[in-house]
Amino acid sequence: MFPAERPRRLRRTSALRRLVAETTLTPSQLIAPLFVAEGRPSPTPISSLPGQFQHTLDSLVDEARRLAERQVGGIILFGLPATKDATGSQAWDENGIIQVALRRLRDEFGDELLVMADTCLDEFTDHGHCGVVRDDGTVDNDLTIELYARQAVAQARAGAAVVGPSGMMDGQVGAIRQALDQSGFSETVIMAYSAKYASALYGPFREAVDVQIINGGNRRAYQQDYHNRRESLREARLDVQEGADIVMVKPAMTYLDVVSDLRRELDVPVAAYHVSGEYAMIHAAAERGWIDGPAVALEQLTAVRRAGADMILTYFAADVAETLS
Ligand code: PBG
Repeated sequence: MFPAERPRRLRRTSALRRLVAETTLTPSQLIAPLFVAEGRPSPTPISSLPGQFQHTLDSLVDEARRLAERQVGGIILFGLPATKDATGSQAWDENGIIQVALRRLRDEFGDELLVMADTCLDEFTDHGHCGVVRDDGTVDNDLTIELYARQAVAQARAGAAVVGPSGMMDGQVGAIRQALDQSGFSETVIMAYSAKYASALYGPFREAVDVQIINGGNRRAYQQDYHNRRESLREARLDVQEGADIVMVKPAMTYLDVVSDLRRELDVPVAAYHVSGEYAMIHAAAERGWIDGPAVALEQLTAVRRAGADMILTYFAADVAETLS
């Protein structure tokens, strides 16, 4: 007999498939993470992240221009300071590498390119933790969020339109919102890394920012445990109450359930971070000829959108934006 329903009818041609596509992926939904290093004569390729560099100020501007031309949603900066100390003071120093880079980008692009800054201390501390470490090796939550507040104000003053607290300290969003408002930066957006898991997928990133971790070698006492799902909703709700404008889930592919929960339960924009390990795995398999790298990248990023992310931080931003345009 004849099938009563023929869903294949709508898949017959690419025109039909395009017409009924439920999910879109556009350059404006992509945010490119970029690394800028202090005092380098030339950009250094990051071997664990093919195609990504530890930039000089000049090469950062060139890359930012390329991304702006491709109409990406924005860029987010990570810094490699020339000197580190116990509190990570370069993170809020007016002449710290991130603040210098932010001013340079503001001068070059103004409001034409959305520039964000990661707000966390791990790249700036000599012990590699995301906060102030006590004598017993644990991270002091309340002291740390005061430093995040200083860092966020320094970033806003230097021109960051968006700050992205990623340290997973309790109360960090509230402390930053209050400090920004009191310093005259009530319009600075907070994109909170709300549901950030302690993930083995950050491996290549730590090479990219030259961070080795001591004191137990992991961040499990502040980043989330990957056995948990409900906890992410609790974290994200608290961040919204404290003033987060955008909430983020990180990593992406292994946490699509969490992306979907946040999209359904909250009414703020939801971001997902397709992290260094996710990028590196695709490149590694593609290099061996086992998968079609660009095709897998498109499939994964579209899946993150389908799960409910409004925007995606991804090292594929430049390549995918070019493919899409
Ligand atoms: C912390 C931070 C990390 C990443 C972004 N912000 C590293 C960590 O938490 O250990 C990882 C990003 C990636 O893996 O692509 N400042």
